[in-house]
Amino acid sequence: MMKPILELDNVRLYFSKGRFRTEIIKDVSFEAYKDEFVSIIGPSGCGKSSLIRIISGLLQSNGGEVLYNGAEVLSPPRGMSLVFQDFALLPWLTALENVKLALSDSNESEESKERRCKKMLQEVGLKGSAEAYPKELSGGMKQRVGIARALVSNPEVLLMDEPFSSLDAITADQLRKETHHLLKNKKTSVKLVIMVSHSIEEVIEVSDRIIVLDRVPTSIIDDIYVKMKYPRDMRSKQYFELASRLRKLLHSAQS
Ligand SMILES: Nc1ncnc2c1ncn2[C@@H]1O[C@H](COP(=O)(O)OP(=O)(O)OP(=O)(O)O)[C@@H](O)[C@H]1O
Ligand SMILES: [Mg+2]
Repeated sequence: MMKPILELDNVRLYFSKGRFRTEIIKDVSFEAYKDEFVSIIGPSGCGKSSLIRIISGLLQSNGGEVLYNGAEVLSPPRGMSLVFQDFALLPWLTALENVKLALSDSNESEESKERRCKKMLQEVGLKGSAEAYPKELSGGMKQRVGIARALVSNPEVLLMDEPFSSLDAITADQLRKETHHLLKNKKTSVKLVIMVSHSIEEVIEVSDRIIVLDRVPTSIIDDIYVKMKYPRDMRSKQYFELASRLRKLLHSAQS
């Protein structure tokens, strides 16, 4: 039996304000394995970002546990990287320097760091922009930097929180295709991807598996293995059926 890379066991979260406590995550449990591209979809405000931050070790849950290769995640572990919706670049650093940040606690030589970061920028299509500052880059280019920064540390697990949703539709589509290609063609160290999204079309396009979350206080309402081959045919019967199943689930979760 293959061991899961990631294991969530009865994860719970609430926020407290004075005497009041708001329950955000009621109970989320799932296991994720090597070579899976898992998407997590759910209505707005249901706790998706909170959940991915818990998985990444940036936020502590109030119950249950997250195991990464069998060890409990209590702080961001080496081997996991996160891509943010709003890119999270430091404006006073160049693209190259932003990527290099991911290697700040590595004892590699400066030359080697620089070489790897430049190569990674090239991989994501930003060869000529290493010295540019974030304000000189388009949204799509900024997220390419975000992806390069996440990948340069050779993570085993790539976490993405709505990575394409701040981009215009055409840029999002292109970057989503390229990223999926990069990951599926095993051109990187990544063995498992967990992506948060609220777009039905997006999750069908890239996922091996789709986990659907309920409205807040959230829990898993469906866990769907997508058997269609890539690239996914938007005109196929399976696509249509899966899209309507997801639409129904999200509708009932929202109301
Ligand atoms: N630090 C915090 N303190 C109090 N409440 C919070 C905090 N962070 C998030 N929340 C609340 O938790 C709920 C879930 O937030 P979260 O950002 O995880 O949802 P989401 O599914 O990512 O939302 P969106 O679809 O808008 O990205 C929201 O109701 C939010 O108001
Ligand atoms: Mg969010």
